[in-house]
Amino acid sequence: MIKNISVIEGDGIGPEVIRQTIKVLNSISIKYGHDFRYKNILAGSKAIEKFSDPMPEETIDHCLKSDAVLFGSIGDPKYDHNPIGMRPEDGLLKLRKKMNLYCNIRPIIVFPKLDKSPIKKELLKEVNFIIYRELTGGIYFGKKGRCKNGNKAYDHCVYSKKEIERIGEKAFKAAFSRKKKVTLVDKANVLETSRLWREVIKEISLDYPDICLDFLYIDNASMQIIMNPKKFDIILTDNMFGDILSDESSVLTGSLGLLPSASTGGDKIMFEPIHGSYPQAKGKNIANPIGCILSASMMLEHFGMYKEKNHLEKAVQNSIEKKICTPDIIDYKLSSTTEEVGDYIEKYILYQ
Ligand code: IPM
Ligand code: MN
Repeated sequence: MIKNISVIEGDGIGPEVIRQTIKVLNSISIKYGHDFRYKNILAGSKAIEKFSDPMPEETIDHCLKSDAVLFGSIGDPKYDHNPIGMRPEDGLLKLRKKMNLYCNIRPIIVFPKLDKSPIKKELLKEVNFIIYRELTGGIYFGKKGRCKNGNKAYDHCVYSKKEIERIGEKAFKAAFSRKKKVTLVDKANVLETSRLWREVIKEISLDYPDICLDFLYIDNASMQIIMNPKKFDIILTDNMFGDILSDESSVLTGSLGLLPSASTGGDKIMFEPIHGSYPQAKGKNIANPIGCILSASMMLEHFGMYKEKNHLEKAVQNSIEKKICTPDIIDYKLSSTTEEVGDYIEKYILYQ
């Protein structure tokens, strides 16, 4: 199969984890006879430097024309004081909006052989849930600014019924082929947007009588994810709460560097690890490439390449079992580099 993939390395550890991911994807294409055609495009700080724009039109055009986008990470402290719209992160938000990627799917995968989570082992048995995070609305995209000579700031949180419905439908459909449970996480005791979420989601649930729907306030959910994580199946939530809950959930797995995501909506799709650009680790060959590699595995599934996806995931499992791991998940003295992890997974796919 021929697939055109736009690749955005981005900032910080982005280029390193993407390099390993491309290597792994190439081993899949050799083994299974595919033709993945990559186009490297600029976003984030490199695009600010070259085009004075964290998300140039040219980049958006490429993304819209390709079969999928593979994204590394974005963010550079050098631009922390840039004006609104000119920070690297703004580029990512713009791209998500332009590609209409309103549904961000973040599976929380616990590797049984990995003993890195600070949470008690017995609480982690059978943990298997997915966060459905709304990605193009809410406080991330509301009107924001400063007044009173900069001494007062605001960020508006706005949601429309339509924005809630379209991700709600996706979450219920996903629950159908799983444990048939959707948990809506919100702050409906305080926020009006949350009350609208509840109304709309309750209405949708009438069309899915087999799916059990329950509601949790975000503060309570943050606690329960740690105290009783196996009770969750699909967590449906807004942009901001989803961002926070996904980092928290990564504690169950042992490292933020392990988790992948797919951002979708209409007919466009992007695959991005949930971690940030981790600027302190940039260029040190210590970043965990697995979140990005597993994002590529979600891409293979999207392409209908199920055998390939299984093979890749088996290779990742095996690297963890054989303790070929970066220092975030293993004792530093025993650890492997970013590149060595990529090499191991590549070889496993080619020869096993
Ligand atoms: C994520 C990241 C982004 C977000 C940042 C980099 C803008 O934290 O994908 O979770 O907040 O969405
Ligand atoms: Mn985040």
